[in-house]
Amino acid sequence: MRDPFSTRLIEAFYRRAAKPLLFRADPERVHDRFTAIGRVLASIELTRRATRALFRFDDPVLETVVAGIRFANPVGLAAGFDKNAQLWNILPDVGFGFAEFGSITGRPCAGNPKPRLWRMPEHEALQVYYGLKNDGAAVIAARLHGVHPRMPIGVSAAKTNSPETAEPDAAIADYRAVLDAFRDIADYYTVNISCPNAYGGQPFTDPALLDRLMSAVDTGSYLQPIFVKLSPDLDDAQQDAILEVLDGHRVHGIVCTNLTKDPRSAGIAPERVPGRGGISGRAVQAASEHQLSRIWQRTHGKYVLVGVGGVFTAEDAYRKIRLGASLVQLITGMVYRGPQVIGQINRGLAALLRRDGFSSITEAVGVGVGEKGS
Ligand SMILES: Cc1cc2nc3c(=O)[nH]c(=O)nc-3n(C[C@H](O)[C@H](O)[C@H](O)COP(=O)(O)O)c2cc1C
Repeated sequence: MRDPFSTRLIEAFYRRAAKPLLFRADPERVHDRFTAIGRVLASIELTRRATRALFRFDDPVLETVVAGIRFANPVGLAAGFDKNAQLWNILPDVGFGFAEFGSITGRPCAGNPKPRLWRMPEHEALQVYYGLKNDGAAVIAARLHGVHPRMPIGVSAAKTNSPETAEPDAAIADYRAVLDAFRDIADYYTVNISCPNAYGGQPFTDPALLDRLMSAVDTGSYLQPIFVKLSPDLDDAQQDAILEVLDGHRVHGIVCTNLTKDPRSAGIAPERVPGRGGISGRAVQAASEHQLSRIWQRTHGKYVLVGVGGVFTAEDAYRKIRLGASLVQLITGMVYRGPQVIGQINRGLAALLRRDGFSSITEAVGVGVGEKGS
């Protein structure tokens, strides 16, 4: 299905005019400017409507119910782009089916020192060292209190990036503070145990500590589904140990995956890495998809799987669905291809589903696992 003229025009403008200019400026400043523009667009009904008319694509074949939540389409904004939930009133107009805000921590957090974001154009990737910069659970929950976001909202919870939460009990209390703050707001929670840039590393990939964390989450008696976000750098034994722990707790979904700290696994020589921190986009795609299909094979429908890492096109999103994802998310694809890419992915996805005779996304989930090349 061909994109409408307006979409092709926006795409050409982004590729030829906007991106070359934006890619010359400091990436964090560009991101902050985009957020500021997004907030203005969100605040006026007319600009929201205009954005919707230009960007959003709807089709009944994309509607899906996952973990009891209704999604107009399966393409979500991944955690990390809207850390402070400032864009809740424009993201559905841009075309997203849902958004995951954060990661949000118990206390406000300034993040790591700058610079902390780099582009890697030859790999269509970003390198990220933000270190969980965010306004903290109380401020962000107050921002979202009583609003009607017109799409499902995920809250990504992490522990505050500071020495005070390095000790497990303090870290667990911090996660709980986030979950408690969003009790009446979130449609689902993601427990992020895979931030590559926080003080103390990723302690909750250790099965015994993860068991303690998830027990504390259980005792919160939250009504929302709970997802857990994993690192792509876990080996098979680590993944299996984590799955065994999750089995004993109230967990509905797994997000595959966060950023990679292992550029070599993506064929990137260490001297080509511009900064420090985790790497996104094309560079994490293969590892994310390996984990996604492996977990699908091991758990076969027990968990909702969310595929994230290197979604640039409808084909990328469709491949993740066929490998076991019920939902997909992205950030880097939007940075490299432009904001019209969300509508393009949804339009292309609807066409791919129909081409292969599927009448819903659910029918396509996992059908490609075990196929040659998967
Ligand atoms: C700038 C930036 C900030 C991010 N911050 C977070 C975060 O706070 N929490 C989280 O779970 N993932 C974070 N991520 C990881 C993304 O959610 C996603 O897992 C990863 O970027 C792969 O998707 P992509 O290739 O579509 O970007 C961040 C990614 C980027 C690019």
